[in-house]
Amino acid sequence: MGLLEELTAEAGTLPEYITSLTEQEMEMRVREIKRVLGERLFIPGHHYQKDEVIQFADAVGDSLQLAQISSQNSEAEFIVFCGVHFMAETADILTGDHQQVILPDMRAGCSMADMADIHQTERAWAKLQDYFGDTIIPLTYVNSTAAIKSFVGKNGGATVTSSNAHKMVKWALGEKERILFLPDQHLGRNTAADLGVQESEMAVWDPALNSLIHEGEMAGIKVILWKGHCSVHENFTEKNIEQVRNTHPDMKIIVHPECRREVVEKSDMNGSTKFIIETIKNAPGGSQWAIGTEMNLVKRLIKEHPDKKIISLNPYMCPCLTMNRIDLPHLLWSLENIMEKTPQNIIKVGKDVSDGAILALDRMLARV
Ligand code: 13P
Ligand code: SF4
Repeated sequence: MGLLEELTAEAGTLPEYITSLTEQEMEMRVREIKRVLGERLFIPGHHYQKDEVIQFADAVGDSLQLAQISSQNSEAEFIVFCGVHFMAETADILTGDHQQVILPDMRAGCSMADMADIHQTERAWAKLQDYFGDTIIPLTYVNSTAAIKSFVGKNGGATVTSSNAHKMVKWALGEKERILFLPDQHLGRNTAADLGVQESEMAVWDPALNSLIHEGEMAGIKVILWKGHCSVHENFTEKNIEQVRNTHPDMKIIVHPECRREVVEKSDMNGSTKFIIETIKNAPGGSQWAIGTEMNLVKRLIKEHPDKKIISLNPYMCPCLTMNRIDLPHLLWSLENIMEKTPQNIIKVGKDVSDGAILALDRMLARV
């Protein structure tokens, strides 16, 4: 389902027996269902989820941790995934046929994952093969559809998360002369630059124009970046950095590598959500931090570390709207459906797609 469809879908409408409950009643009911279902139920939650949901998560993690946890859990019959669609698809691919992965709200997509579809990818690949022959290995950020993961797996490539991108890009560049990195140009550019790839050795693939954007010698291209981005992280700017430097000279700036290159270059540190959380946790009391990532996580860090001064790098930042689709009422609704033996929003990836996608995921999981 595309983002527009997801945002307008009826799937968000909840029955009155849920919406008429108070927050406390909903929480009590979730607790009760969790108690009744016990080990049959597993609730993974991404760091960007709201506190009202995270309080019920059996495991909280970044994209890599959630993929690892899913691949290790063979017991739970129902995995109610509190994250976005591509994460639930990954969980389905990595779990057994006896397990059902459920996404509490089907509108919880990812605008970045929507920026690369399989048809555009196949079209791009055909053109790139004409230009470069068999010299390209595809890598896809896990923030992509199962169909893209499958394409990547079948073409010898792997998935990547923000916490293992350096390792995976290094590996890929050892396998072939150049990589195609989908769908986040910023994570690809930031990672390649850290590994010493020059800007002149990077090109951008524009899926709308079906063409390669590059000035200079084609033969020198090492990294082809898909023209996609995260609409949340693109909101952090160089101006935000300047402002923080001027108003809080002692403040450290830490950002997610989905931010643009200029922002990452001017910050003090960058890394995955797990890296950001650990850095803040291990920082001395009294230290000051401006964080460039999703707002639910920033708010949680502010609450958990009252001894540190923490602000959002962009003071007008909003949470990721699609992550936010998963809320307490939708979580409860999913659990009630399980209790009624009519689970809804089951995420099932077909075997033709999952066979290829698992190759890409396994190549990543074997290297972390
Ligand atoms: P990580 O949790 O891997 O850092 O990913 C961030 C993100 O944008 C997930 O959608
Ligand atoms: Fe997608 Fe960005 Fe939201 Fe993550 S934060 S789910 S990458 S839109």
